[in-house]
Amino acid sequence: MIKVLFVSFESLPFVKTGGLADVVYALPKALDKNEFEVRVVMPMFKSIKEKYYEGMKYLDHIYVHSGFINEEANIYSYINEGIEYLFIENDTYFNRDGVYGYADDAARFSFYNIAVVEMMIKMDYYPDICHEHDYHAAVLPALCKIRYNAIEKIRSIRHILTIHNLAYQGEYDKQVLFDYLAFDYKYYENGDLRFNDYCNFMKIGIVFADFVTTVSKTYAKEIQTPEFGNRLDVILQYRGKDLYGIVNGIDVDSFNPAKDDQIEKKYSIRNYLAGKRENKLALQRQLGLAESAETMLIGMVSRLTFQKGADIFLSAIQDILHKDVQIAILGTGESKHEYSFKMLENENRHRFVYYCGYNEKLAHEMYAGLDLLCMPSLFEPCGISQLISMRYGTLPLVRETGGLKDTVDPLNEYENTGNGFSFGPYSTEDFLRVFNYAYTQYYEYPERWKMLVKNAMKTDVSFERSAREYEELYRKVLTK
Ligand code: GLC
Repeated sequence: MIKVLFVSFESLPFVKTGGLADVVYALPKALDKNEFEVRVVMPMFKSIKEKYYEGMKYLDHIYVHSGFINEEANIYSYINEGIEYLFIENDTYFNRDGVYGYADDAARFSFYNIAVVEMMIKMDYYPDICHEHDYHAAVLPALCKIRYNAIEKIRSIRHILTIHNLAYQGEYDKQVLFDYLAFDYKYYENGDLRFNDYCNFMKIGIVFADFVTTVSKTYAKEIQTPEFGNRLDVILQYRGKDLYGIVNGIDVDSFNPAKDDQIEKKYSIRNYLAGKRENKLALQRQLGLAESAETMLIGMVSRLTFQKGADIFLSAIQDILHKDVQIAILGTGESKHEYSFKMLENENRHRFVYYCGYNEKLAHEMYAGLDLLCMPSLFEPCGISQLISMRYGTLPLVRETGGLKDTVDPLNEYENTGNGFSFGPYSTEDFLRVFNYAYTQYYEYPERWKMLVKNAMKTDVSFERSAREYEELYRKVLTK
């Protein structure tokens, strides 16, 4: 058995702020249980629901003394759908309402990484591979290889770092390296842990992990360029031969229109026409839009940030509103975008709805009831909404970047292929041009639209294929 420990700050069903939580939940489930024994470790957050607390088993107690950090922690275990989750409980750092965004985040992440090593030692549990996710867990490889290198079983652990979003790197004052992580100054001096005059957790992970992966092949290429590399492009190029792109899938059991209790009417590819129609009418009714099965209903389910293309969507909106469409938006984000969406709702009653917040049920209802889902992202490491929407027969309209490019096959009307629409340059004109194209297809070529919907529903968006690629990489890293 190959023992793999996933190290992440979040995972469903316990805590989710973004797509990371979906991946850390779905991937372990999809790995071959006969060959891999997977555990997941994460912090015990306040927001974890009580029903989970009740099923948790106390395992151990650890001490974390590191620079100025002097803390203790309890380790709990919870089995969810056959996967063991280990929780690190420490009230100083984790007993808060939110997950990220605190002034002492550098100390919180440092504590977490050290606690993971201390936990392994205390529990005499030495995984063959630690699979770290994003910068929150990215100093672990360096800790194992430098600070704990006297312990053979820790030193020999292999590390795979997965970058879910390079825009977030964890860049802090260099003192973090000494005050919290207790590294020797010489590793700053020689450049190993240094990034300009700072310390940058993602950079440390990229340098010290045995392999680095990211969540699509296109994004793996993009991040090696100055445009998408966020200043780490040169370091990523330097790790180029150990850098892999493996596209995400989704958990096809959680997102299945044929079994989804959260939507008005369940459906599959055999009866999707009637199914989607009922879901659309129910959604319109619920959101206060005019009930009309014929009207094209488009939307976004997204964080409303610059990454997601909210600005080009907004600058195209007046042109879009000139057409015969209804629009539904779900998500929170930058306040200027939230404000604009609220204004639009006020000005366009019964045609434009903005739900400011996150609502799991409404998200499912939108995936089921919309005709078209817009994702005009500026950059998108992988993207999850486009995968869910395809499974529900809602066509994605995406910009050709990162995982959006790798997962959406734009309509080719000459060869009758495709499962959505896409555009290249990040501009309002290009977005509008493709929106108009989709609009024409919807109203004037209904047969072609049906073909696209069926293709979308048939697209394999499961984690199966990607899980085989990760398994391959796990075997490979052990022989490295
Ligand atoms: C981040 C990325 C998103 C990706 C997700 C899971 O949230 O922004 O594109 O799908 O991580 O890997």
